[in-house]
Amino acid sequence: MGSEANVIVADGLRKYYGKTHAVDGISLAVRHGEIFGMLGPNGAGKSTTIEMLEGLRTPDAGSVEILGLRQPRDATAIKRRIGIQLQTTALYPRLSVTEILDLFHTFYRGHPTLPTDDLIRLVDLDEKRETRSKQLSGGQKQRLSVALALVNDPEIVFLDEPTTGLDPQARRQLWDVIRALRGRGKTILLTTHYLEEAEQLCDRVAIVDHGKIIEQGAPSELIQRYFQEIAIQFQDGHGGSDAYTRLPGVAHAAAEDGLVTVYSADVPRTMAALLERETSGEGKLRDLSVRSATLEDVFLKLTGRALRD
Ligand SMILES: Nc1ncnc2c1ncn2[C@@H]1O[C@H](COP(=O)(O)OP(=O)(O)OP(=O)(O)O)[C@@H](O)[C@H]1O
Ligand SMILES: [Mg+2]
Repeated sequence: MGSEANVIVADGLRKYYGKTHAVDGISLAVRHGEIFGMLGPNGAGKSTTIEMLEGLRTPDAGSVEILGLRQPRDATAIKRRIGIQLQTTALYPRLSVTEILDLFHTFYRGHPTLPTDDLIRLVDLDEKRETRSKQLSGGQKQRLSVALALVNDPEIVFLDEPTTGLDPQARRQLWDVIRALRGRGKTILLTTHYLEEAEQLCDRVAIVDHGKIIEQGAPSELIQRYFQEIAIQFQDGHGGSDAYTRLPGVAHAAAEDGLVTVYSADVPRTMAALLERETSGEGKLRDLSVRSATLEDVFLKLTGRALRD
């Protein structure tokens, strides 16, 4: 690894806490100018990994290269060129948006920074510039914490679950901010447990579970790799998926909490068989929907579990 297009290269990262293998051999390479997502459930090891990349935690094993520099040897030089948003950020509650950004500028005296006005515009907080941070909404606070990660005009921006807890509209607004950063030539590495976010926002994703990357690639590539079929979904109180795998056209079926997902390579034939079962009273087809596969289906197939928000 270490090709010049890769701005983040991690090789064999491990971090153990007693018996907990928080990170258990993670290797990844992030390319210049992309939005790279680490997708995984609570406790998968996302924060531990991102913090080892940032230089905030020391790995038990493995190496990290950022912009061709090594952690921890070049930590000071790296810190100047990256922006960090932590999963929880303490904002000064009584200071206004402008005051907080100005304060952060003083931390980088003598180094190039982005003007407060530009940052405010970039994260779309013009109307709130004089508002105290404690009076901002959840989404506005998140956007302010992204702005704080950008004060030193970093080449790489690390965002740890930037949209967790936001409503769909605020989440989309933050996606626009992140896309705008990519438009300015930044590289973004973010963590998320929202499948839709990984699918819509990220150029490439690594699916993380139990401290390991179980699959990675562009979302559309991953979906294609695992599903050439169409998903037919419905509620059937009867449970198990076995009865469905034998129906015509069905490649694979899964059932969880009465929600059955049947992956069909021949939707008309599978539908005909499903309708026949319902007519004869063998099965139910409540809340029927037919859709293309998503990253959620990939996660379910790989882990046997649903990744719920
Ligand atoms: N300082 C620590 N001491 C002990 N255990 C830790 C420590 N930090 C993390 N862990 C454990 O390591 C595992 C991975 O934690 P981590 O915070 O990296 O997960 P995550 O993917 O970021 O989860 P979340 O989505 O909830 O933020 C968890 O089991 C956690 O309890
Ligand atoms: Mg975390």
